[in-house]
Amino acid sequence: MRDDDALEKAASLLRRAERVAVLTGAGVSTESGIPDFRSPGGLWSRYDPSKLTFDKFVASADTRRLYWEIATESYPVLRDAEPNAAHRAVAALERCGKLLLLVTQNVDGLHQKAGTSDEKIIEIHGSSLRVTCIDCGAPHDREEVHARVLDGDVAPGCDHCGGRLKPATVSFGQAMPERETLAAFQAARSCDLMLVIGSSLVVYPAAGLPDEAVRGGASLIIVNNEATDKDHLAAATLGGSAGESMSLLLRRAGLDGADG
Ligand code: APR
Ligand code: ZN
Repeated sequence: MRDDDALEKAASLLRRAERVAVLTGAGVSTESGIPDFRSPGGLWSRYDPSKLTFDKFVASADTRRLYWEIATESYPVLRDAEPNAAHRAVAALERCGKLLLLVTQNVDGLHQKAGTSDEKIIEIHGSSLRVTCIDCGAPHDREEVHARVLDGDVAPGCDHCGGRLKPATVSFGQAMPERETLAAFQAARSCDLMLVIGSSLVVYPAAGLPDEAVRGGASLIIVNNEATDKDHLAAATLGGSAGESMSLLLRRAGLDGADG
């Protein structure tokens, strides 16, 4: 399908849709300066994810030190990043009453910064902007823990039980948040359009959401700068920059007025 045909098809689906479920991945934040995971230069080209699994974090002080070294490098980038046109386009979908639910795999809080309401967001892989103790669950201030690590406390312990602090993200091998995962699949089943933006769609269960949506009768649009394994399910795929594609899509659908 030629690009303009795909854009026209996507715009007509979006114009008619009433219950849009959006799924975003790290590709929606690269234009805000946050590297993704699997593009050249992405996080997994610099670190081996198999060394950062949850069971290794629990068992090994060395893994916790490595984990906090990476988290301390990336936290200021996430904290200081600004939303881009793709995040703002999702917020505009909520303003025009079309957003059923946003499921994000991202842990950077940029959808909230762009104005999407908390109650419309499922952070299915948690958040890097929060820290909890994996032993007693006590929440800790992310900024305060960041300062402790910068001061040399390379694997910070819990203020309450002395246990192991970890950013509140879901690591490989860690249990998925049950309520959030159920809500995400419920939305996939009840939406009339699923819009995927900036994900390689290789990590389950999130990568199963497009299949669930299409099984439930929804149409699927994928906005991504490379092909994904789910493109065959899509009514339209838009390549190139997520920010540009989403701005073009909202304009063509006549929804850019809500693009405040
Ligand atoms: N515009 C459009 N697409 C982009 C852009 C951009 N500016 N930048 C990157 N992409 C695309 C990449 O080509 C890639 O296909 O976004 C996708 C990002 O894929 P990943 O890096 O695999 O990120 P994601 O799909 O979110 O990964 C899912 O894997 O490691 C875990 O927990 C981590 O949540 C993450 C999960
Ligand atoms: Zn504790």
